[in-house]
Amino acid sequence: MPVHARRLIRKMRGGAQAHLVECDDGNHYVVKFTNNPQHRRILVNEWMSAWFLDYLRISAPPAEAVEVDAAFLDAHEEACFRLGAQRREIEPGWHFGSRYPGHPERLAVYDFLPDQLLDKVANLRDMVGVLVFDKWMGNADARQAIFFRARLKEWLPVEGEHPLKVGFVAQMIDHGYVFNGPEWSFADGRAQGFYFRRQVYRGVRRMEDFEPWLGRIVNFPEEVADRAWKQMPPGWMKGEEEEFEKLLRRLMRRRERVPELLREAAEARPGPFPDWGRS
Ligand SMILES: Nc1ncnc2c1ncn2[C@@H]1O[C@H](COP(=O)(O)OP(=O)(O)OP(=O)(O)O)[C@@H](O)[C@H]1O
Ligand SMILES: [Mg+2]
Repeated sequence: MPVHARRLIRKMRGGAQAHLVECDDGNHYVVKFTNNPQHRRILVNEWMSAWFLDYLRISAPPAEAVEVDAAFLDAHEEACFRLGAQRREIEPGWHFGSRYPGHPERLAVYDFLPDQLLDKVANLRDMVGVLVFDKWMGNADARQAIFFRARLKEWLPVEGEHPLKVGFVAQMIDHGYVFNGPEWSFADGRAQGFYFRRQVYRGVRRMEDFEPWLGRIVNFPEEVADRAWKQMPPGWMKGEEEEFEKLLRRLMRRRERVPELLREAAEARPGPFPDWGRS
């Protein structure tokens, strides 16, 4: 359901200069704007990624179209882009929102965890799943995630856990640079798409360890992409439909190449997977 921005909480760091905003559905969203300093296409990339990750069952914040109107911008003069000493206004309209996993005053969200805590993240294996996704989508950025402590049952499909068990949850964020960002191409650098702590790939020994995600991607239904596109705010595409359609056709043709992309990355020396080839 589309939502409307009500109150600016703060600006976030990062190249897109996203803003954390309270919305009229009672949730908070990290909003990337159509005229952000990176590119409008970043929003298309984020939107498609959110729908794909949802289908693949890889933990990520839900995405929403967020309307920022002139009244909101008048009431929040601090909402703007900073380009050096210059100020650029945010344009009113529909933007991309990534849901904050709780109330920002009560829930601490971390960009990084120290190694010992990282090992305790309940869904750390999603880092392997999202690597398969990143290779397929040609993510030119390093992998990024947020972490927070919560009741696991409320966030993850964990079986057999006590309903009140609390632990760290990871959600995958920042998909502005899938499709090589504004380029809408596939660069396929061997090293791209990895998380900066290689311990998250422990236990990856052979191709089978990329399941179930690899199978889901090789057989990815085109309808999922069609549905995501249909739900996207129309203003984000701005006459680029044909080019985007071409990109999606390339993406679908690439499904079968993903095992090869992973194998190439795995067999590089030094390799990214600490346990590759061990029995
Ligand atoms: N759904 C979310 N919930 C909480 N925090 C978030 C969420 N999405 C993003 N953030 C925070 O906002 C910051 C900026 O988001 P993101 O990395 O997507 O933006 P960016 O401008 O593309 O960054 P970069 O410069 O890394 O490309 C993140 O580092 C993270 O701290
Ligand atoms: Mg980022």
